[in-house]
Amino acid sequence: MFRKFYPAEMADSSYSIDYEGLYAQGYRGIIYDIDNTLVEHGADANEQVVELFRRLCGIGFRICLLSNNKAPRVRRFYRGVKIKGVKLHYIFDAHKPATKNYRKAMILMRTTKKTTLFVGDQLFTDVYGANRAGIRSFLVKPINKKEEIQIVFKRRLERVVLHFYKRERMERLKQTNIVLIGFMGSGKSSVGKCFAERYGFAFVDTDALIEERTGRSVSELFAEKGEAYFRDLETEVLQELVRKAKRQVIATGGGMPVRMKNQKLLRKLGMVVYLSVTPETVLARLEGDTTRPLLQKASRESEIRHLLTERKFVYQMTAHKVIAVDGKTVSAIAEEIHDSI
Ligand code: S3P
Repeated sequence: MFRKFYPAEMADSSYSIDYEGLYAQGYRGIIYDIDNTLVEHGADANEQVVELFRRLCGIGFRICLLSNNKAPRVRRFYRGVKIKGVKLHYIFDAHKPATKNYRKAMILMRTTKKTTLFVGDQLFTDVYGANRAGIRSFLVKPINKKEEIQIVFKRRLERVVLHFYKRERMERLKQTNIVLIGFMGSGKSSVGKCFAERYGFAFVDTDALIEERTGRSVSELFAEKGEAYFRDLETEVLQELVRKAKRQVIATGGGMPVRMKNQKLLRKLGMVVYLSVTPETVLARLEGDTTRPLLQKASRESEIRHLLTERKFVYQMTAHKVIAVDGKTVSAIAEEIHDSI
């Protein structure tokens, strides 16, 4: 009954969404609500907005503001953000949740339903309208918690809908697998074990499955049979997991998503979470490690940088969610994953 109001995603703020990952997944245009989504109700554009839009344009996104507010408010905001050379569209008096202006926004941005995202803070106008228009919606927490009385009432109704939404999501989560991908040393195994223990999942590690099956360590397999042989084993293990795994947390080898065939299998297997890490952290964590054959080179640092640059895009493209892990504890990362699904 409430499904038509459910957002596709929830995020803490418009500023914490993984836009790079979404671009890698093929999204090209973003429609933003303004009030309480980008700034406090009625406020002018600030540095944070300008910075975000500059970043988005740098990535390659087109942007359109879509507000139910009147022309003077929206124009004032628009003028505050318009950045030299950056094309930004705006629509005022949008009558959300009517779909007409969502469609107009896509025409202005030259995007389609499949390549457009919507970000807003209200369920019954913003998200409902985006859902009706067939656009993937992000619900963000309102910037200002103190709101006018008519909004306070709406928020109470929203809370009811969100209660059912979250309950359904938890039910769905009980059936799913969580698949962790990311570079060597990003913490897939430790985070996976922690998540599994805390939330009642079984834990598996694809490297460990391969070692168990062949009776050889990953290093021995690379040395005796070569990398291609190991990659074939990875695909085999993955296919088997797709057939059998239920309610498991699966930590994968860092090279697993590189094969295109595996990318599809990983997404089929479950909710794919990419633990993104900087080369500096990898270097520090894997100091003295001898178990990763790909890093047993004199120029370990440049190899890490090279491989990470090469794979970053593949990881982003494969993942449903991206979590930056630098400086965070294993337990905090596990919790972040849980909150994001
Ligand atoms: C590899 C990562 C390793 C292991 C093998 C190859 C890679 O797993 O599968 O050494 O290509 O990145 P971890 O990511 O668990 O270290």
